[in-house]
Amino acid sequence: MKTGFRKIILLATGLLLLSFPALSQDDKEIPANVIQNQKCFKCHGDKFYSFFNESQGKQVKERMNPYFVFDSATFYVSNHKSFVCTDCHSSDYENFPHNGNLRMEAKFQCMDCHGGDETYAKFNFEGIDNEFHQSVHSSRHDESFTCWMCHNPHSYKISARNTENLSQTIAYDNAICLNCHADIDNYQMLTEKENPNVLVTHDWLPNQKAHFANVRCIECHTQNNDSILVAHLILPKEQAVKKCVQCHQSNSILMASLYKYQVLEKRNKAGFLNASLMNDSYVIGANRNIYLNIISLVMFGFVILGITVHSIIRILKK
Ligand code: HEC
Ligand code: HEC
Ligand code: HEC
Ligand code: HEC
Ligand code: HEC
Ligand code: HEC
Ligand code: HEC
Repeated sequence: MKTGFRKIILLATGLLLLSFPALSQDDKEIPANVIQNQKCFKCHGDKFYSFFNESQGKQVKERMNPYFVFDSATFYVSNHKSFVCTDCHSSDYENFPHNGNLRMEAKFQCMDCHGGDETYAKFNFEGIDNEFHQSVHSSRHDESFTCWMCHNPHSYKISARNTENLSQTIAYDNAICLNCHADIDNYQMLTEKENPNVLVTHDWLPNQKAHFANVRCIECHTQNNDSILVAHLILPKEQAVKKCVQCHQSNSILMASLYKYQVLEKRNKAGFLNASLMNDSYVIGANRNIYLNIISLVMFGFVILGITVHSIIRILKK
């Protein structure tokens, strides 16, 4: 009797669990790190935050430093979306007010986690690290210029490698550079020098708008390297690409930079690579349209015909 009762209880519990599969799955759907990070986003996800002020015995609302506010949606699609904030920051940040000494803590660098890790071999972190240290940024500013300055820890997401939309990647990558080269405050975090206006320093480039939408800053400002998808060696300005033909010819440098991934993946369907750009015949000022070509040939024919007829008539008149 006793065992029979136990069986019934077990069966009932089993049925009960089976009848709530949706519930148990829903619980699983929110990843643990998202739940844990809610504590931080409660304050670091908005313009305002509030806390209970124990010495005054009341709840107070204050403004959050705008540089300390992050968008959770952006964080959860970034490369490090599976992280809890305290994977990179001290777990003492769970207490508020934060301990003042915490701001002295050393931050992790990319190479602390990715250096020598086979899982990420395809990215060639060592090669990138090496190039970065030769770049104008690192060589002139040493330790104060870190990888995080271009790869925001709370939003960085790889783009060029898996893009379906090249113009989005171009805009994403250029925004990284413009974050300083079009923002005096971020620029002056590093140097007292005046920040040259990009529009003025590139006024030699015709139709800047079209160029900045179709090529990345790094196309002209880095040295390409076969073993790295995105070149990181930013050269002094004197060595930047200025010659139009370096891009506007069949053997365009863009094949080794902007279109590198597509070239490697052999994903370039017909029409993907702008045929006109890649074509020998695309010389600035020349027409690129087959109908225009035909029309001009026909016009040329008429001119020849006209001259011939004219000459014949003149000869006959003589
Ligand atoms: C009750 C609101 C609140 C919560 C919760 C909170 N913070 Fe903060 N945090 C702040 C405020 C306000 C500042 C700026 C003033 C300061 O440093 O205390 C700050 C500053 C910081 C800083 C920058 C310190 C510096 O000066 O460089 C980090 C990093 C940080 N918080 C991480 C976290 C993490 C990680 C969590 C979650 C574990 C968290 N915070 C939870 C309010 C909060
Ligand atoms: C992959 C590591 C990483 C993760 C994950 C991470 N952070 Fe950070 N965080 C950093 C680094 C590195 C810096 C310093 C950035 C710098 O030096 O430019 C920083 C800076 C900050 C700052 C100060 C901002 C500033 O401009 O100085 C706050 C606040 C902060 N983090 C909060 C958070 C919160 C909240 C989370 C979770 C949602 C989080 N961090 C997740 C690495 C991380
Ligand atoms: C605290 C350790 C840590 C630090 C610091 C760190 N990463 Fe990561 N990174 C990881 C881990 C772990 C993953 C895998 C996350 C996952 O799969 O959810 C990852 C993922 C990535 C990916 C995505 C790989 C893919 O296949 O999608 C890239 C790219 C990346 N990190 C670049 C960087 C860069 C650049 C920096 C420095 C600016 C950096 N990481 C700093 C640990 C770290
Ligand atoms: C001056 C800005 C800048 C600095 C500094 C910088 N990067 Fe990058 N990095 C970029 C840009 C732009 C991309 C292209 C992003 C994209 O479209 O995926 C990139 C891409 C990457 C990628 C992905 C490449 C791929 O194969 O998909 C990795 C990994 C990376 N950087 C690591 C680093 C490391 C490590 C450092 C520091 C040693 C660093 N970066 C410093 C601008 C920078
Ligand atoms: C965190 C801010 C920051 C970011 C992001 C940044 N730069 Fe810079 N860049 C600087 C500063 C500061 C200088 C001035 C260096 C100096 O001369 O002291 C500089 C200088 C330069 C120069 C001029 C070098 C010379 O010869 O004077 C070029 C070119 C350049 N950056 C290109 C880029 C490109 C391309 C990117 C994006 C991939 C980028 N920068 C991203 C801060 C930044
Ligand atoms: C078509 C090639 C090309 C593109 C694209 C390009 N640059 Fe340049 N850039 C140059 C050249 C060439 C110079 C040197 C100009 C000169 O000395 O007259 C230069 C100069 C610079 C300088 C130094 C200015 C100074 O006077 O100190 C910076 C900074 C810079 N570029 C940043 C950028 C940024 C940021 C982008 C992307 C928004 C970008 N460049 C896109 C070719 C390019
Ligand atoms: C880094 C590579 C690069 C360099 C250097 C470069 N261009 Fe371009 N240019 C492009 C790309 C990519 C496009 C867009 C192609 C398209 O839409 O067919 C373009 C478009 C153009 C266009 C057409 C603009 C429009 O309205 O459609 C003209 C004109 C042009 N470039 C002239 C020049 C001249 C002149 C120079 C030298 C001073 C130059 N380019 C240097 C890559 C480059």
